[in-house]
Amino acid sequence: MSFAQWARVVSRDTNRSLAGARLFVPPDSPAASDVKSQAQQWGMILVSDRAAADFVFDASDEEDGLSLLAMNGAQAIDHARKRMPVVRRLLADLARTGRLAGVRFAISIVLEPKTAVFLEELAAAGAIVGIYCDGESTDPRVIEELRKRGIEVAAQVEWSARRRRDEALKLLDDIRPDILIDDGASFARLLMSQRPELAKNLIGVAEETTSGVRAFEAMDRDRALTFPVIAVNNSALKTNFDNAHGTGETCVTTMLEILGAEAFENSSVAVVGYGPVGAGFARRIRAVGAHVTVCDTDPVASLRAVFDGFATADLSEVAPHVDMVISATGVRHTVPLSTLQQMRSGALVGVIGGISNEVGLDEIPGFARTESPLSQINIPQGPTLRLLSDGDGVNYTAGNGNPIDVMDLSFGVQTMAIGYLLEHRGKLENHLLQLDADADRHIASVALEARGCSTSTAHAQVYDWRLSRFEDEMTSEHEGEERA
Ligand SMILES: NC(=O)c1ccc[n+]([C@@H]2O[C@H](COP(=O)([O-])OP(=O)(O)OC[C@H]3O[C@@H](n4cnc5c(N)ncnc54)[C@H](O)[C@@H]3O)[C@@H](O)[C@H]2O)c1
Repeated sequence: MSFAQWARVVSRDTNRSLAGARLFVPPDSPAASDVKSQAQQWGMILVSDRAAADFVFDASDEEDGLSLLAMNGAQAIDHARKRMPVVRRLLADLARTGRLAGVRFAISIVLEPKTAVFLEELAAAGAIVGIYCDGESTDPRVIEELRKRGIEVAAQVEWSARRRRDEALKLLDDIRPDILIDDGASFARLLMSQRPELAKNLIGVAEETTSGVRAFEAMDRDRALTFPVIAVNNSALKTNFDNAHGTGETCVTTMLEILGAEAFENSSVAVVGYGPVGAGFARRIRAVGAHVTVCDTDPVASLRAVFDGFATADLSEVAPHVDMVISATGVRHTVPLSTLQQMRSGALVGVIGGISNEVGLDEIPGFARTESPLSQINIPQGPTLRLLSDGDGVNYTAGNGNPIDVMDLSFGVQTMAIGYLLEHRGKLENHLLQLDADADRHIASVALEARGCSTSTAHAQVYDWRLSRFEDEMTSEHEGEERA
């Protein structure tokens, strides 16, 4: 079994993050040195002691073990709960302040077992919780299980666009939220346009992702915000882990699952957008054999890609030649119809992370969703291409979503954001705000403790800005003179 095959199986079976995990490769494994180098590029830590490893590379691992996918809702939620010590501890601390009791939450976020753990812990702390989710981002096993446990869920795989909007509004009317937890700013915008009277009562909003933060930034610039918003996405404990590791990693393992374990071997891939998501994805497909060209409109991001060892180019230059074009921008029409028309017949186009119409499918007359992870699409006056997940983010539509340990950190940031909104209730300005670095340090300390790891302790505890190089030099000179 190659490293790519092994990563695919392990990620499917456990939904654990491989980045930062300790791997033992038995010395007698076939191609052990290749496997080690790929694992390191993937972000794994190699250990020589089998007992100290989180994972052991086993070239003979069973290909057909579908353990996580075969679990029912209750089992999958339980599997996630055991691996989410950070959010459980932070929510328990917040519950002890008494601030959560009776607070009403409307949540619009990808609905999977990890989300269910977060919702249940909030509800157990005395909050009233309701969740809306689009069908394609919903794990159907979780819907029934949450309803059984008394949480209002508005999500159904087959709803029409109008029905989705109506159900989202119904949830907002039922919950009458104090706090919104949003993913893409869509719930907040719906509330502002359709239920302005409910928007007036909000304590605040916590926004999960980059594209939502972008929308709230624009609203803040236009002075349109009538409540404070915490940019959860912008905390280091979110962006540097969820965007950079989790999304990149899951997109690759999900694509290996859909396309076959050797899909990237010697393939040429244009990665469009080199933010944390694109960069994490590019690093990992390079580890499993892809030749990557980065296409980013921002010179700083492009230069970063060059320093990371990637080729860079304009998308229109490379699109006619590559095997895959993968968008990681969160920007509408990043891959427009004109680019699709340039591509080679049989090439693949897809989105990681993502917003709707990041690939310009709305420019194709009569385009119809197939609800399939891989379909064919005839481009007008152009080639027949392969399309991933109807152009939606491949990780949350076709995969297991972000690894559990990564979502534990993201929900940890959400918990700190909720705590901040409740602690400063009524005193915050109606702007887009960000948690300070102390919040990140606190979450990181809890996460390190949960893993049995620690930080170093500095001996000089007090920083004195008056002590510059000149003072240090004069002090040593004086001491030298005294000794002489
Ligand atoms: N779990 C998840 O699925 C998940 C997690 C994190 C982020 N996301 C989503 O993934 C997407 C990317 O996130 P990010 O944090 O890396 O975003 P980012 O904004 O940090 O980076 C996007 C990059 O794309 C570039 N870009 C924008 N428009 C472009 C264009 N037309 N052509 C080429 N380059 C262009 C920008 O210059 C930037 O460097 C967002 O939609 C975000 O919401 C999803």
